[in-house]
Amino acid sequence: MSSLRASAPLLDAYLTYFQSLRQPFTIPGHKQRASRLDLGLGQVVDSDIPLYGGLDEIKLTNQVLQRAEGLAATLWGAEYARFSTGGSTHANQAIILALGKPGDKVALTRNAHRSVLSALVLAGLEPIWLSPQIDTATGVPIGISLSEFEKIIEQGPIALLLTEPGYLGTLSDLPALVGSAHSHAIPVIVDAAWGGHFGFSPLVPDHALAMGADALITSTHKALPGYSASAVLIAQGKYLDLDRIEQAFETTHTTSPAGAPLASIDACRALLQLRGRELIQELLTTIEEFKQEIQAHFDIPIFLNSSDFPPGRFDPTKIVLRTNQIGASGVEIEKALQTQMIRVEMADNDTIVFLATLVDSREDFDHLAHTLIPILTSQKGPARASAASVSWSTIPTVAISMRQAFFAQTEMLASDEAIGRISADLIAPYPPGVAVVAPGEVLTGAIVEGLSAAKAAGVRIAYSTDPTLMRYRVIKS
Ligand SMILES: Cc1ncc(COP(=O)(O)O)c(C=O)c1O
Repeated sequence: MSSLRASAPLLDAYLTYFQSLRQPFTIPGHKQRASRLDLGLGQVVDSDIPLYGGLDEIKLTNQVLQRAEGLAATLWGAEYARFSTGGSTHANQAIILALGKPGDKVALTRNAHRSVLSALVLAGLEPIWLSPQIDTATGVPIGISLSEFEKIIEQGPIALLLTEPGYLGTLSDLPALVGSAHSHAIPVIVDAAWGGHFGFSPLVPDHALAMGADALITSTHKALPGYSASAVLIAQGKYLDLDRIEQAFETTHTTSPAGAPLASIDACRALLQLRGRELIQELLTTIEEFKQEIQAHFDIPIFLNSSDFPPGRFDPTKIVLRTNQIGASGVEIEKALQTQMIRVEMADNDTIVFLATLVDSREDFDHLAHTLIPILTSQKGPARASAASVSWSTIPTVAISMRQAFFAQTEMLASDEAIGRISADLIAPYPPGVAVVAPGEVLTGAIVEGLSAAKAAGVRIAYSTDPTLMRYRVIKS
């Protein structure tokens, strides 16, 4: 029984499809009957229906997607909303393609996700990098300061692109940045991939549009209980061209969107609207109790807490364990948890991030605490200072544009020979997927050493041509 069905047209359409007898002579080729051929294949595909000829008629006669997107726009207080089955990756690419023309500059936070960087390559835009401020007490990036943005305004960026919240749950002073950007008619685009729940309880930060931003992108499969790779793009038309966004969105989206992700976005929207406040409050109470239970075994603070940051600048649903405080390795703790079938969202030497969402129950947290406490107490050692992760601390040296690098001839060099050369690869410890070096930037000794150290500490280094980091792909000289 679905209590959301009556408030979520796409969810209703999805469920209705399976209640009626249909004879599809259309795609998808499995026709929800692949179990006739193989039970395993059937299990994977028979619950899949498309938008065209599934959630709606082939000619979209019922406009059901449009209605659902309209409901989302209204909920987020925006003029425009689109649902994507290609994740925040696609939504970032769509909006960035709609901003300007090749050669234009955008002010861009260095903690931007890879998808934003690849969007710049597609759009031919040039980044003016903004470095996140690092909190000295915790070693955590705390967003872009107003002065960091204002010092580059004279370079003429056509947009300010931010990632809020960052991977560890912290936020910039968004209203201040928006105020400054708008005073120069610069639109502010916020990649809020991890902040889908923002704005739906007074206990979590407002969402980016409520803080004045012109667009927000969020993954409904991250902080919200949506289908993998589902996302929403929400925008206002004052400083952005909504027709261009629409064109860019359709240009880069699949022409065969799957129904389940779309229905899940609609259902997540209805869930936030109807029960967001109550569910977020419950989640926060449970998280607080969980953190207290673990903290009771240690006399120095081991979690990031809202009180570590200015009001409204931290997502309290984010569980960030600071393993440096207990002198343990986050990666070793992750390994020990894996042997007990518990997976964490991210672990590096100093930090573990546990993703908690509205679906987690008290029993789930009790089980985690029960498993985690003996691991933490057995690995406890003397506290060490937090080394700002290589992902947050690199200052880029741009040699050629990302787009030039993308199309240039390249060669592979041993790591020591690659130092001082221009990287052809984007290389990012993953998670958080934040580039340590981007195509077109100089591979410095500090970057090569930092990446090796992160790898040696057990962090997965993503996207480098040679995952062993013995060799690097550089631009041919
Ligand atoms: C900040 C940020 N933006 C965008 C993305 C891409 O999101 P998706 O996986 O929904 O494509 C991620 C993924 O981790 C992310 O962390």
